[in-house]
Amino acid sequence: MNLTDKVILVTGGTSGIGEACARHFASLGAKVVAASNQQDRGEALEAELRAAGQEVRFVHADVSDEAQVKAMVDFALSTYGRLDGVHCNAGVWGKGTVAEFDEAIWSKIMNVNVKSVFWTAKHAIPALEATGKGVFLITTSVAAFIGFPAHALYCASKGALESLIRCLAADHAGKVRVVGICPGTIDTPMLAETCEGWDKPVEELYAEVAKKIPVRRLGQPEDIAKTAAFLLSDDAEYINATSIVLDGGTMALPPW
Ligand SMILES: NC(=O)c1ccc[n+]([C@@H]2O[C@H](COP(=O)([O-])OP(=O)(O)OC[C@H]3O[C@@H](n4cnc5c(N)ncnc54)[C@H](O)[C@@H]3O)[C@@H](O)[C@H]2O)c1
Repeated sequence: MNLTDKVILVTGGTSGIGEACARHFASLGAKVVAASNQQDRGEALEAELRAAGQEVRFVHADVSDEAQVKAMVDFALSTYGRLDGVHCNAGVWGKGTVAEFDEAIWSKIMNVNVKSVFWTAKHAIPALEATGKGVFLITTSVAAFIGFPAHALYCASKGALESLIRCLAADHAGKVRVVGICPGTIDTPMLAETCEGWDKPVEELYAEVAKKIPVRRLGQPEDIAKTAAFLLSDDAEYINATSIVLDGGTMALPPW
């Protein structure tokens, strides 16, 4: 499996899962545009990978803003002349029950996790269709299927993405494959953020969680990157309108 000369845009491509994806796609020969709102990390990633001979460019974008999403897609097209794959991966997390939500937290989570994907699809899918076999990949979450306490907004945002995968696949059938990766508990800065405020060190919390995962460890960003690369490759040309769960067995088995 390789991604030689495929042009792939990955959002949230400068941290955690997205960064691992950008690195892995580039190592498999892709021309990668890593987009995020992390200017310093993006510049450092671009400099490091280009110095290693890989074809990677960073573009700053707030993906919740349609004008910036359009500029992000235009940057990829003007830099590399085509788009073979788009990986919508940027996301934010938030905790609370509905009684605690307000317009600001609703807008933040829904705009970054859901609205951004609509705008990216709107502006990128014509270019993907032009290739005849483009791939639109979305990072969802097991949160789409599990009722995590005090996570209604995050879970609903990820549930929306699972629906969007099927609808986009229907609307662009024959021209673009639309697929998802659905991670479980992955060791990233976002996961560390979810541990803030607990009465135990992160390492202890992670060890407890790992014991409950059937493969007995947290997922690493590279676990996700390998499957994302496969889904974006021609080897996955019969996978469409669905997402692949990458959770070490968490959802399928009882937690005891
Ligand atoms: N870590 C997990 O356990 C886990 C599990 C399931 C799903 N996910 C999903 O995986 C994706 C990546 O998460 P991660 O764990 O790597 O987190 P992370 O915090 O390490 O990375 C998130 C990325 O999204 C970017 N981002 C956030 N808001 C943005 C905005 N407005 N515009 C542009 N970029 C923005 C950040 O800059 C960062 O690069 C998210 O969609 C997340 O919901 C993570």
